[in-house]
Amino acid sequence: MKRYNVAVVGANGAVGEEVLRVLSEIDFPLAKLVPLASSRSAGKTVEYNDEQLTIKELTHTVFDEEDVEIAIFSAGGGVSAEFAPSAVKSGAVVIDNTSHFRMDPDVPLVVPEVNPEDIALWEKTGIIANPNCSTIQMVQALKPLDEVFDLVRVDVATYQATSGAGKSAMEELVHQMQAFFAFKLDEAEVKAFNQQIALNVIPQIDKFQDNGFTKEELKMVNETTKIMHKEIALSATCVRVPVLRGHSEAVTLTFDSEVNAQEAKEILSKAPNIVVVDDPSQELYPMPKDCVDTNETYVGRIREDLFANNMLHLFIVADNLRVGAATNAVRIAQKFVQMQGE
Ligand SMILES: NC(=O)c1ccc[n+]([C@@H]2O[C@H](COP(=O)([O-])OP(=O)(O)OC[C@H]3O[C@@H](n4cnc5c(N)ncnc54)[C@H](OP(=O)(O)O)[C@@H]3O)[C@@H](O)[C@H]2O)c1
Repeated sequence: MKRYNVAVVGANGAVGEEVLRVLSEIDFPLAKLVPLASSRSAGKTVEYNDEQLTIKELTHTVFDEEDVEIAIFSAGGGVSAEFAPSAVKSGAVVIDNTSHFRMDPDVPLVVPEVNPEDIALWEKTGIIANPNCSTIQMVQALKPLDEVFDLVRVDVATYQATSGAGKSAMEELVHQMQAFFAFKLDEAEVKAFNQQIALNVIPQIDKFQDNGFTKEELKMVNETTKIMHKEIALSATCVRVPVLRGHSEAVTLTFDSEVNAQEAKEILSKAPNIVVVDDPSQELYPMPKDCVDTNETYVGRIREDLFANNMLHLFIVADNLRVGAATNAVRIAQKFVQMQGE
């Protein structure tokens, strides 16, 4: 079986480290792993399979020099904009975790459980985009329900962990909590977010747009339509919460047909990489603390609306660094490799 040279750009970031972990846990046909980051980190090491790998500096020529065939980018949109074309030029396929290429009509935006067939479009640009973390876990649950009940509208409120904004944002929550216990919270640095995140919730993720929604909220609207190949009315309220890891979403779905909660549970139980955790009698439902380090999306609180027979409510939780980024990227790589062999 052919083995691949894989580069991870942003290898010592929150997502990059997770990409290395996921790759080490699965049977990926890897020939060589090339960890890349900025000159600040070149020469430092990252762990892969109990080995310490030395980080190399990201340059325009490194993909050629290392004979990279698959490049997984998680180093920010600007870095992807500048360096992904060099990776493609050297013959690699780029799987990009940033938002930079997501809405480019020539770039497939892929959640393997939802639209794996779109991976075949990679040849147009050499790039496959990974959706936003909040979108991935949501569409994984929407797709199987849409197939049966015909989804027309989604209303979602998110509860997003600090790790969604990178390592420094996780550290900021920890530092603010430490400051709180030292009675110095008002002196703690507020930098990663525009408000204090400790003991708070912030109903703003990314910048506000003229229509009153934030960029993060509009990402959920536009990406859902692109991935599902369907115009779905969607409103999102994206909220940052003082959780380190694991995004949660309260979702209300409106269908074209009458919907039944029991049937929805059965459909979701059979859906790929979805785990239904839903037993009110035992007070069982998904929570971020239980999803950390896992590759599944958890769905619970599945219930019919009290007033409309075509509406359903559910609660969706997943590890944003894995399902929302690293695992999805690696699953795309796995599918890509599989398609190359066909
Ligand atoms: N966190 C999430 O849940 C999530 C989910 C989906 C997508 N994403 C996206 O993934 C990207 C990375 O996010 P993250 O959370 O992993 O951030 P992070 O923890 O801040 O890590 C950033 C990584 O990028 C590298 N980097 C920064 N500037 C660079 C440059 N000029 N050249 C080469 N490498 C550079 C950093 O290396 P140095 O140490 O050398 O600076 C580090 O390895 C972002 O675009 C983010 O939007 C994040």
